[in-house]
Amino acid sequence: MVRFRHSVCCALFLLCTFGFALAQEKLDPAVESRIDALIKQMTLQEKAGQISQYDGISPQTAELVKNGGIGSLFNVLGAENTNAAQKIAIEQSRLKIPLLFGFDVIHGYRTVFPVPIGSASSFDSEMIEKSERVAAKEASAAGIKWAFAPMLDVARDPRWGRMVEGAGEDPYLGAIVGAARVRGFQGTNLADSQSVLACIKHFVAYGAVEGGRDYNTVDISEQTLREVYLPSFHAAIKAGAATLMAAFQDLNGIPASANHHTLTDILRVEWGFKGMTVSDYNSVNELTIHAIAHDHAEAAQLALTAGVDMSMADGLYGRSIPQLVESGKIPISVVDEAVRRVLRAKFKAGLFDNPYTDTKRAQSDILSPENLATARKMAQESIVLVKNENGLLPLDKGVKTIALIGPLVDDKANQLGSWVANGRAEDAVTPHEGIKAKLPNATILVSRGVDLDLQGPHYGSGATGAAPAPSTATGVSGEAATGPMSIDDAVSTAKKADVVLLFLGEPSNYTGEASSRSTLDLPGDQQKLLEAVADTGKPVVVVLESGRPLNILWASDHVQAILQAWYPGSQAGNAIADLLFGDASPSARMPITWPRTVGQIPVYYGHKNTGRPTSPDRWHTGYQFESKEPLFPFGYGLTYTTFKYSNIHVDTPSIGPSGVLRVSADIANDGKRDGTEVVQLYVRDRVAPTSRPVRELKGFTRVTLAPGQHKKVEFSVNANDLGSYDPSMKWIVPDGTYDVWVAPNAIEGEKAEFQVTK
Ligand code: BGC
Repeated sequence: MVRFRHSVCCALFLLCTFGFALAQEKLDPAVESRIDALIKQMTLQEKAGQISQYDGISPQTAELVKNGGIGSLFNVLGAENTNAAQKIAIEQSRLKIPLLFGFDVIHGYRTVFPVPIGSASSFDSEMIEKSERVAAKEASAAGIKWAFAPMLDVARDPRWGRMVEGAGEDPYLGAIVGAARVRGFQGTNLADSQSVLACIKHFVAYGAVEGGRDYNTVDISEQTLREVYLPSFHAAIKAGAATLMAAFQDLNGIPASANHHTLTDILRVEWGFKGMTVSDYNSVNELTIHAIAHDHAEAAQLALTAGVDMSMADGLYGRSIPQLVESGKIPISVVDEAVRRVLRAKFKAGLFDNPYTDTKRAQSDILSPENLATARKMAQESIVLVKNENGLLPLDKGVKTIALIGPLVDDKANQLGSWVANGRAEDAVTPHEGIKAKLPNATILVSRGVDLDLQGPHYGSGATGAAPAPSTATGVSGEAATGPMSIDDAVSTAKKADVVLLFLGEPSNYTGEASSRSTLDLPGDQQKLLEAVADTGKPVVVVLESGRPLNILWASDHVQAILQAWYPGSQAGNAIADLLFGDASPSARMPITWPRTVGQIPVYYGHKNTGRPTSPDRWHTGYQFESKEPLFPFGYGLTYTTFKYSNIHVDTPSIGPSGVLRVSADIANDGKRDGTEVVQLYVRDRVAPTSRPVRELKGFTRVTLAPGQHKKVEFSVNANDLGSYDPSMKWIVPDGTYDVWVAPNAIEGEKAEFQVTK
């Protein structure tokens, strides 16, 4: 069954990627001739307008729409509002070209899903696709036809706040997750009223900013660019991504929004991308601040000729392009090509036939029970169990007295995470609410203990609505007890309970854009709270909410169980309660390597072998007085049962460069409960012209087994996907011996080997 499912998945993946790749290349002649006709009619000013995007609707932008001065608006929400703006374009502008409405639909629209690094932890591309389908349905019901997502930036430095928006450190996982998100947003037909155009971002290597400081310089080799940062984009394009956003930062000296090498040589020429590109917010204008352009006109010229079709928010194309063409600095053909791509996206989106949104849809399509059920399941699958001493979890629902402690117990806004689109705090289920619903007969004692940080309560995250609950302790089984917010109060509350659940983390606005941190420590007095509560000797479960790995070294030694919940979204409290009390089982895995200390950063499993030390060692280069190991490896996560790996078998011990590697292993549930294991396939090319990572993920599959059950899991990988770039940047599949592991994470597993022959 697993074998069948996995082969089907592989076949489908190949079919989807290659099928859509062909569709990308084949243009519809009828649409192309309608575009030709429109371009012929457009004035130079209208062309410059068509490739300009503005933020929000105002009397000024409405006037521009009327004059054909805007091709796209973003941050206009609600079908009534988008329809009203669209009416101006359709009824009052000369050529009646519809507007394209964009928005940052990062992890849901109104129903908020786990933050992307959380959903990526599920290693479940079907659920991720389903979640983005819900996001597309809700966003499109609100008039949005273009999501500025998914973010495909590989991130290996947790100080970088935007790690939360991506799929973690690995190019292969990033590619699978990115393609799934694109399929979810776009569905099978972009013109479907419930589909939105995806916008893969940020092109490219934004995750490699020096020191993890947002917007900072990136200086990486062409090989690293191609092997680590580009694959997720290429996979998403093969999955049919309609649009792409250029990044802010400079890449090897050339800002991403003026980078001809990435935006044209690679994207257009090598990959044949026919979709539309857009700058990031004001990033064309910022070319003057990067100081590669003397003025705004030169900035517009650099961006457009590098390959940025539409400029976001700065209005620079509208203002500069007519003069640039008239003065001969930009050929009109370059402008026409950009206009063509924008119009093509609008045709694909069906906007010329259906420019308006049915206002009745919002009622049925947004925040529906089905959408919330999908969000709850996605959240259950996103939470990683990293420690569970003596099987403390799942807890018995018959527990008499339970203490819920910590600043996130009753905090609604922070359950949602950063960049929550139209998410509202009032929709979020807190851990307290979720547990209360699960345990109607228990005595639940609540003490917030400390604030989330030293600045006091956080309403951050951009979510509107209810503020975090006050710092009171409430017995919900009848008698209510209030107490002061203090560590003493938390300790005395803990002492009264059979088990303590400690909800710690970072405020969600500590993550996301412009939210890099120099430390990974728990903010405020949370470490003190943790230590004092653990000191009571009660069994303690830590539920950690964050958008990046935090420093939980002390916790990992001193508490019995830890769940890394990321920010689980609207259904946070329900999903957390489902896992804590065994109505769902943890199955998520780390999409990043979790450092022991901030000084280990960057630390990632796919590092290169070095010359020293000379003996084989997993984490070759290390620090004095510190372990070379991370706290948790990539791919790590526990379940409520145990799995045994055996009988790794390479069906194809020798393959040619165009062959297919087939590897299988037996996976047995040798524990006492049902469970889902994320079985991972890693490969290492032992000798190649360039030094290779010690392991590279090449496949994974989720396997659900009852106690005593076992299954043979089979993986197939095209030999071509085992290759690497040689020093001249040619893709090769080196011959020789390769190691292969079928593994529960990036440092364990059953090992075998195979040969690639010429
Ligand atoms: C972010 C993008 C986002 C854009 C529009 C920028 O600041 O980098 O990810 O899509 O704003 O809101």
